[in-house]
Amino acid sequence: MDRILVTGALGQIGSELVINLRKKYGDDRVIATDIRMPADTTLRDSGPFEFLDVQDEHHITRVMQQYKIDTIFHLAAVLSAIGETRPNIAWQVNVGGLYHILEAARQYKCALFFPSSIGVFGPSTPVEDTPQDTIMRPETMYGVSKLSGELLCDYYQKRFGIDTRGVRFPGLISYETEPGGGTTDYAVEMFFEAIKHKKYTCYLKPDTSLDMMYMPDAIKAMIDIMEADPQKLVHRNAFNITAMSFSPEILAAAIRDYIPDFVIDYEIDPVRQAIADSWPDSMDDSAARAEWGWNPKYGLEAMTSDMIEKITKRLYRTT
Ligand code: NAD
Ligand code: SER
Repeated sequence: MDRILVTGALGQIGSELVINLRKKYGDDRVIATDIRMPADTTLRDSGPFEFLDVQDEHHITRVMQQYKIDTIFHLAAVLSAIGETRPNIAWQVNVGGLYHILEAARQYKCALFFPSSIGVFGPSTPVEDTPQDTIMRPETMYGVSKLSGELLCDYYQKRFGIDTRGVRFPGLISYETEPGGGTTDYAVEMFFEAIKHKKYTCYLKPDTSLDMMYMPDAIKAMIDIMEADPQKLVHRNAFNITAMSFSPEILAAAIRDYIPDFVIDYEIDPVRQAIADSWPDSMDDSAARAEWGWNPKYGLEAMTSDMIEKITKRLYRTT
């Protein structure tokens, strides 16, 4: 990785990935792009930023030429809950945008990281120990677009030899940047509300289990898979990866170890509940472990302890 382009760089993942990539590969070698301007000074002042809409193929070409890009982390997307309210935009950004990025990768011979999601699975997929290769009939526009993305990346790799790689992320938990409108966002909201108000109203049922991961593990996964020996990758574009599986009531109990008077109640949102019900409870990530050494550091306890410490510091500036 010499000159790296990150699309959707101001989102929940991108805002942390860019800083990590700049530390590892050099500030000027990581070009952050988004359709918003950065408010955060750390990202804005640490390296190049370009306004870039992934639906604008001509602008993508100009940026590729200007910075002589050889690796792309393509994060720009519309997530699951927003995707159900605006399915046409979700399709245009998630599939149309990826198509333009794949074409740019083909033209400029770039490696490409594409983040897929647990959203690619559907109600007919086995929910426990969801296998790497299994039934995939997603019923959300997000899932349909992400599964199309996996297939497009496979196609470009086989047909044109483009070095496409990717993972199926579960819900990601972090404190730097708010999540962007997904179904798993409740987990992040719960931490902030517990610390600020000792109370949270959850939009998913108490026993809805979903795979989750703490952001430091997600960042490491993206860099590790892009640095992995390509000869060892069989499932290049869509590795199941997970770090923990929990439900709202289990997360609330873990938070109560630190905030004993934290109270949770429930007002179910039928749209997000239906999405969560169609996703796995826990994925089998043995292919990622075997093919490129995936091994997450944070489980529920370690993640909870770190989130509470970091959010408290952020909100109340304790040392
Ligand atoms: P996010 O919603 O926080 O950020 C997405 C970014 O894309 C935003 O900053 C947005 O401004 C930008 N964007 C939207 N439309 C764009 C366009 N047309 N052109 C350029 N930029 C555009 O999302 P995230 O959580 O950072 O997710 C990044 C990627 O990871 C997405 O592809 C998502 O599907 C995938 N993913 C995320 C999670 C998660 O829990 N966060 C889980 C699974 C997969
Ligand atoms: N966290 C994401 C969402 O809920 C999963 O892809 O949309």
